[in-house]
Amino acid sequence: MKNVRVLILAAGKSTRMKSKYAKVLHQVGGRTLLEHVLDIARHVSRDISIVVGHSSDQVKGTVSEVTFIDQKEQLGTGHAVLAAREHFSGYGGDVLVMPGDVPLISESTLDAFLQFHREGGFTASVLTADIADPGGYGRIVRRNNHEVDAIVEHRDASPDILKIREINSGIYVFNAPALFESLTKIKNDNAQHEYYLTDVIGILATRKQKIAAFKVDSAEEVLGINTRQELAAVDRVFRQRKCESLMMDGVTIIDPETVYIDSGVRIGADTVIYPSVQIYGNSIVGEEATIHSFSRISNTKIGSRTVVLEGCIVVDSAVGDDVSIGPYAHLRMGTTLENSVKVGNFVEIKKSALGTGTKSMHLAYLGDATIGKKVNIGAGVITCNYDGVNKHPTTIEDGAFVGTDSQLIAPVKVGKDAYVAAGSSITEDVPPGSLAIARGRQVNKEGWVKGRKKK
Ligand code: UD1
Ligand code: CA
Repeated sequence: MKNVRVLILAAGKSTRMKSKYAKVLHQVGGRTLLEHVLDIARHVSRDISIVVGHSSDQVKGTVSEVTFIDQKEQLGTGHAVLAAREHFSGYGGDVLVMPGDVPLISESTLDAFLQFHREGGFTASVLTADIADPGGYGRIVRRNNHEVDAIVEHRDASPDILKIREINSGIYVFNAPALFESLTKIKNDNAQHEYYLTDVIGILATRKQKIAAFKVDSAEEVLGINTRQELAAVDRVFRQRKCESLMMDGVTIIDPETVYIDSGVRIGADTVIYPSVQIYGNSIVGEEATIHSFSRISNTKIGSRTVVLEGCIVVDSAVGDDVSIGPYAHLRMGTTLENSVKVGNFVEIKKSALGTGTKSMHLAYLGDATIGKKVNIGAGVITCNYDGVNKHPTTIEDGAFVGTDSQLIAPVKVGKDAYVAAGSSITEDVPPGSLAIARGRQVNKEGWVKGRKKK
C-alpha cells in the first residue's frame, strides 16, 4: 500500500502574500504550511522529496529526512516537477504530487485517493472538490460530463469554464514515466507565461490515457493558501479543529471563537479555558486546571488544578500542581514552580526555581534565583542579578522570609529560616536562622517643620 513516492512543490515565491519569505514558511495552527503538508505526506510514504527555490536555504533548515530538489528559477508548477526528473529516473511507480500550500488535507482522504488511483489503474488521478467560490483555482473540464479532459487555470478560462465549480486541489497521483514524458511537451503560452503542471492532464487525455478525478466531499480540505486572507481563514479552521478535539476529550472552552491553541498542545480533562486565551507550541496543561482570559502560555508544562489568573505571560517554563499564578504575572524562560507555589500580581520571574509552597504575591523581580520550600518573598523584593556585565545567582533556602522592598544584591545567599528585614539592601550572605537588617537607621527630628516655616 505504501509504495508511492511523494513530491512536494515548495519553490514558489509568495507574490500574492507580499512577503519576503517563502510562502510555505508561513504558519497556521502554530506550524509552517510545509510542516503540515510534510506530516500528512509521511503518513503515505517514507520517500519524500521537496522542490525548493525561493529562500531555499531557510526552507531547507526547517525540515529533515527528505530529499531537496532545487528549482533555480520559478517558472511554474510543471517546471517545478520537471526539476525532479533526474531524481525519478528509473522509477516506474506512482508519484503523489502535492503543493506546499494545501495544509488541511486529511490522511484518510489521501489514503482513499491512493486506493482509488490504484484500483482504477489510472495513468493520472487528480483530487478535486466542488466549491462555492472557485475563484483563482484551476477548473476541471470533463468530456460529456464524464472523463476528465483538461484542467484550465482561472486566468486562462473562458466565461463558460469559469462557471465550473469543480476545482483542482493541486494534489495528483501520476505514473512517473508518463508524467515526466508529458512534462517535456508543455509550453508556457498562457496568461501567466508559466509552465503549468495542469497541462499534463490535457496531454495525457489527448493520448487516451486513463485519467480520473477523485472528488472529496469537504471543500475545506483542499483550501489552498495564496493570500494573507486565506492564511487567516485556514488558521481559523485549525483552531476550530483543535478546540473541537479538546472539547471531545473533556476540556471546557468557554468561547472557542476567541481561543488560540496550537495543534501540538495537550490539555487534561476538566480543565477550563476562559475566553481570549492563547496556548502555543508544545505546552501541556494538566487536569482540572483553569486558564483565565488574556493569558499567553508558550512551550510550558502546567500541572493539574493550577490556576492561571488574568493577563499572565508564561514562556518556556514548568509549573507544578495546585499553583496559582497572576493576575498579571510574567514567567520567562527557564522558570520552575514546584507544587502549591503562589505567584501574584506584577511578579516577574526569569530562570529561577521556586520550591513547594513558596509565595511571591506582589510586585517582585526574581532572576537567576534558586528559592527553597515555604519561602515568603515580600512585596517589591528584587534580586539584583545583573552588574552591567555579568549575571549572578541568588539562593534563598527553605523557610526564609524576605521582607518587603528588599534588594538581594547577587551573588548572595539567604540561609534556611533566616529573616531579612523590610527595606534591606542585602550584600552579604545571611546565615541560617538569623535576622539581617541592612538599611539606614531612622532619625526623627522633633519640631523640625515648625522651625522651617519660621525661616
Ligand atoms: C495551482 C494549480 C491550480 C490549482 C491550485 C490549487 C497550476 C498551474 N495550477 O494554482 O490548478 O487549483 O494550485 O491550490 O498548477 N511552485 C513551485 N515552483 C513554481 C511555481 C509554484 O514550486 O515555479 C509551488 C508553490 O510553492 C506552491 C505550489 O507549487 O506550493 C502551487 O503553486 P501556486 O502558485 O500556489 O499555484 P496556484 O496558482 O495556486
Ligand atoms: Ca496555491
